[in-house]
Amino acid sequence: MRVGLLTGGGDVPGLNAAIRAIVKRGEMEHGASIIGFRNGWQGLADGDVMSLSRPQIRNVLPLGGTLLGTARFHPKKADGSMDAVLATLEAERIDAVIVIGGDGTLHAASKVADEGIKIVGIPKTIDNDVWGTERSIGFNTAVTIATEAVDRIRTTAESHNRVLLVEVMGRHAGWIAATAGIAGGAEVVLAPERPFDIEQVVRQLKHRHRAHASFSIIVVAEGAVPAKGTAMQYETELGQFGEIVAGSVSERLKCEIAERTGFDTRVTVLGHVQRGGSPTPADRILGSRFGVAAIDAIANGETNVMTALQADEIVLVPLSEIAGKVKHVPTELLDVATALA
Ligand code: F6P
Repeated sequence: MRVGLLTGGGDVPGLNAAIRAIVKRGEMEHGASIIGFRNGWQGLADGDVMSLSRPQIRNVLPLGGTLLGTARFHPKKADGSMDAVLATLEAERIDAVIVIGGDGTLHAASKVADEGIKIVGIPKTIDNDVWGTERSIGFNTAVTIATEAVDRIRTTAESHNRVLLVEVMGRHAGWIAATAGIAGGAEVVLAPERPFDIEQVVRQLKHRHRAHASFSIIVVAEGAVPAKGTAMQYETELGQFGEIVAGSVSERLKCEIAERTGFDTRVTVLGHVQRGGSPTPADRILGSRFGVAAIDAIANGETNVMTALQADEIVLVPLSEIAGKVKHVPTELLDVATALA
């Protein structure tokens, strides 16, 4: 059995744990050969392959990033790339492909599956917004990093009597904002799921600074937006590839808050720090569990599915069920984030 493997989209800590698990389990239990494609779908289109065996995965468990490299590349969107992908798979005599990615990469995977290729997906994204799974690889590490940042910001915010905005990633969903906000005890949490009213935020800050403390921490997801019809006019600022321009919402909020309250207000954008460095034990374990489940699924003839965590069990969900959906933060979690201000 020859199994292709790629990591696509933004990197996350825990990818190497999944790669390692696939290679070890594949070789030892199923006698499989694992063929890696460098830089996501791009490597499949270009025929950029590397063989993956025990020497390549030695000591990678604690390492962040992905030993395969990654890229934001969609075979269906680039001219002729789908044909190139199919040609590489044929030339390399690949029986099935394991695709580790977030919504974009997994969406591409379902398109490749439509061409008759056997696929098993593994969800990874620090945004934790892949439908069908309670957790994606990388989320736990990102929340850990963001929580530590909030803890550190707190002491300097208090010393200087400042309002400090901490911007975290999360384009369509505020999982990092809500969970790091709760864990770090942020006074205000702003997430895409619940558009905010700047006047309400300002009222809350003024009340706190009058009654309880002279500093506040606001955790804001990069995709947070003001509610329609409220006082702040703002359109999410997008870059060349449709990505959110880091810092744009928080810089804008800084000006609005400073102007309306007179409080000394500053911004920290965590950015790619959230995606870097060593994975937490939880992400190493999740990556390992997903890796084993993915290669076992192929050996059992179960394909065009994604590994998922549901009620602490690893299950397989059809790829077609998750494509195009976003897993939003539930109301209860957002309520907890706001209730403890
Ligand atoms: O895909 C997850 C993510 O980390 C988002 O939260 C963020 O908006 C985006 O990637 C940043 O992408 P890039 O690394 O390509 O700038």
